[in-house]
Amino acid sequence: MKVLVVGKGGREHALCWRLSQSQTVRGLYCASGNPGIDRLAKPVALSPGDIAGLLGFARDNSIDLTVIGPEDPLAAGIVDEFVRAGLPIFGPTAAAAQLETSKSFAKTVMREAGVPTADFAVFDDFDAARRYIAAHPGPMVVKADGLALGKGVTVCPDSATALDALADAMERRRFGGAGARVVLEQVLRGEELSFFALCDGENALALGMCQDHKAAFDGDRGPNTGGMGAYSPVPQFDAALEARVLDEVIKPTLRAMKARGTEFRGVLFVGLMVDGERINVLEFNVRFGDPECQPLMMRFQGDLAEALLVATEGRLARTPITLSPASAATVVLASGGYPGEYRKGIPITGLERIEGAEPSELKVKWALDKVRVKVFHAGTALRDGQLVTDGGRVLAVTAMAPTLEQTLQAAYEGADLIEFEGKHMRRDIGRRALDYLARKR
Ligand code: AMP
Ligand code: GLY
Repeated sequence: MKVLVVGKGGREHALCWRLSQSQTVRGLYCASGNPGIDRLAKPVALSPGDIAGLLGFARDNSIDLTVIGPEDPLAAGIVDEFVRAGLPIFGPTAAAAQLETSKSFAKTVMREAGVPTADFAVFDDFDAARRYIAAHPGPMVVKADGLALGKGVTVCPDSATALDALADAMERRRFGGAGARVVLEQVLRGEELSFFALCDGENALALGMCQDHKAAFDGDRGPNTGGMGAYSPVPQFDAALEARVLDEVIKPTLRAMKARGTEFRGVLFVGLMVDGERINVLEFNVRFGDPECQPLMMRFQGDLAEALLVATEGRLARTPITLSPASAATVVLASGGYPGEYRKGIPITGLERIEGAEPSELKVKWALDKVRVKVFHAGTALRDGQLVTDGGRVLAVTAMAPTLEQTLQAAYEGADLIEFEGKHMRRDIGRRALDYLARKR
């Protein structure tokens, strides 16, 4: 089949990498691609937001499956448009994407479906929300309802902080229209976990668990980013928990969405808080995470294009998915200053020391046949043949090895071989899992 991937970051590079290995893929295209992706997929000079352009391209080129990476085109209804035109596309409709684009919608569906989640109240009126905070002293979470680039959530230790966060969202409109409505929520404690499921409207298959690292600096300090690293699987959690998430969260959510007439097809990305035996949903996203997708794609075995097509066609029931039992992790190399201001166009060197050279310069020789390192491009560009930085998150150095310790060693060895001025990475990706494993021993 001919497959078109929409997006241009590390997530889409990982998707293209796995899709390029699919037996069933005869042609691979990416709109708009990046220098890493362009080696695997034919670049299509259309932005991910150009729905009419993408639809025309898919029709003119007889694309058999279009795969959407980021949330914005989903929220804008790209799936609805393609379905109307009779073109196969992987992802949820705009109505189903509300699980991510509206936190109050997601909470309402959770309540309807009996999915465990924190107690909450929804407000469109600033004064009513203020009164609610005054009547419920103590810690509280304030969430802007709409998409706010991951910045719309404030976990507040007390009412004063909550009032300030509320005014930020509703009065000062820090997140624009996304803050016209807010969700006020009880604070949950525990260990965070991300869970990914491939859904066909009715059936779901686990794509793996991840833990990400949102803060810019080690020890979860500093401002929130899109994600500085991730690893999968998460040894703190076992197969029994995976089964519980499928039964207690994913399946009831799919049933509730179907009953509403807004079937969910695509990747459901569940943010969970786990506290002993208690699991609670923090949020839904309706797509692969970035950078979570990178380790997930390293572990995914089999024909990805076929799996996504089967989900799109509602035929997931008889399709098994196999994940490698190995450990995978990604370390993001970011531009100096990210997530604040940063420069672009800085030359990047050293990639060939990992991927080009035969043998590679990686020192993890002790198990080289079992260790694999892939560098996914997130924000890069080519300028006169030279690879340069072109975004906040620049590269996602991803490794897979039999154990988490080996995986992290390989990923950091790779990350250290790459150079660009201002390069910043977290040095503690996977730390919580390593600590857990050390305690267990
Ligand atoms: P969300 O976008 O809803 O996942 O929120 C972003 C982050 O805020 C989560 O990853 C959690 O770290 C935190 N968070 C959200 N909701 C809660 C909650 N009810 N209790 C504690 N932390 C939360
Ligand atoms: N890494 C978080 C996300 O993709 O939403």
